[in-house]
Amino acid sequence: MLSTKHLIDTEDLTLEDVQLILDTARSFKEVNTRTIKKLPTLRGRTVVTLFLEPSTRTKSSFEIAGKRLSADVQGLSGSSSSTVKGESLVDTAKTLDAMRCDAVVVRCKQAGSPLILANNMDAHIINGGDGKHRHPTQALLDVFSMRENLHFDGLEGFKGLNVGIVGDVGHSRVVGSLAPLLVRLGATVTVVAPPTLMPADPSVWGVSHVYDLDPVLPTFDIVYMLRIQMERLDGAPLPSLREYAALYGIGKERMAMMRPEAFLMHPGPVNRGVELTSDAVDSPRNLILDQVNSGVCVRMAVLYLLLGGDENVTVA
Ligand code: CP
Repeated sequence: MLSTKHLIDTEDLTLEDVQLILDTARSFKEVNTRTIKKLPTLRGRTVVTLFLEPSTRTKSSFEIAGKRLSADVQGLSGSSSSTVKGESLVDTAKTLDAMRCDAVVVRCKQAGSPLILANNMDAHIINGGDGKHRHPTQALLDVFSMRENLHFDGLEGFKGLNVGIVGDVGHSRVVGSLAPLLVRLGATVTVVAPPTLMPADPSVWGVSHVYDLDPVLPTFDIVYMLRIQMERLDGAPLPSLREYAALYGIGKERMAMMRPEAFLMHPGPVNRGVELTSDAVDSPRNLILDQVNSGVCVRMAVLYLLLGGDENVTVA
C-alpha cells in the first residue's frame, strides 16, 4: 500500500510508491484487455468525482477505474454541485464526509484546493488537477506510458532518459507534477517555451530551460508537448497562434528532425494545428491514446492502493 493517505502531488510519493503504482497499473492493464473487465476489489467503497472544471480524460477514466474495481462512483460537476449556490469548498468537503464516501477525486480552478479538502475530510483526497498547479495522476500515467513503450521493468530505465517538455510551461499543471517526478527518477528534463510562456524559475523543478526548440529537438528521447492553455492566458502573451505553431509546433518537418526512436506525447486535449499538426496527432509514434489507456490503468492502481489498504482486498 502507499505511504501517503492522499495524493495531492507526486511529491507525496516515495520512489517505492511510484514503482508500486506502475507495477500495479501493469497488472490492471491486462485486466482491461479482458472481455469482462470487472474486479470485486473495491466493492462497498464509494468514490466521488468532484469536477469543478471541465474534463474528459481525467473524470471519465477515474469513473471507469472505480467501476472496474466495483466501487460505487458518484460524479459531481461544477454545475450540478451546490458550489454554484455559493457553498464553500470546506462545507462541500464536510457534506461529502458526512455521507461517508471513501475517496474524493477533485478538479478545481484554485491551486491548493485539494489540500484544503484533505485537511477537512476523513476521505482519501486525490488531486485531479488544481488550476495551473499540479496534476499528479497525469504525471504517473505519463511515466507509465514511457515505461511500457520503452519496455523496461523497475525504475532504472528512466535514468539518463532525455525528455523535452515543450509549450505553455507557464500555465501547465502537468509540468509541475511531471518534471520533478522525472528528475527524481533520474531523467534529464529540458523545458522549452517562448519567454512569455516560461515560468520565472523553472530550475526549482531540477530542469534546464531553453527558448528555441530546433537546436534541442534532435536530442530528446521523449518529446512531450503541452497544450496552449487558452483559458489561462492573461492578456496576449503570444503574438499569434500561427507564429507560435511555426516556432514550437510539431508537424512532418519537425518529426523528421526527431530521433527515429523518439516518442511524441501530449496530455490532451490537443489544439490541432497549434502544438501538433494533424500529421503529428495521427502519427504512430504519438502515444496520446496510449496515455489515455494508461490513465485508466494508473487510476485503478491509485484507487486500489489508497482504498484497498484499509482492509484486506485482493487484485485477482
Ligand atoms: N489531460 C487531462 O487532464 O485531460 P482532461 O482535462 O480531459 O481531464
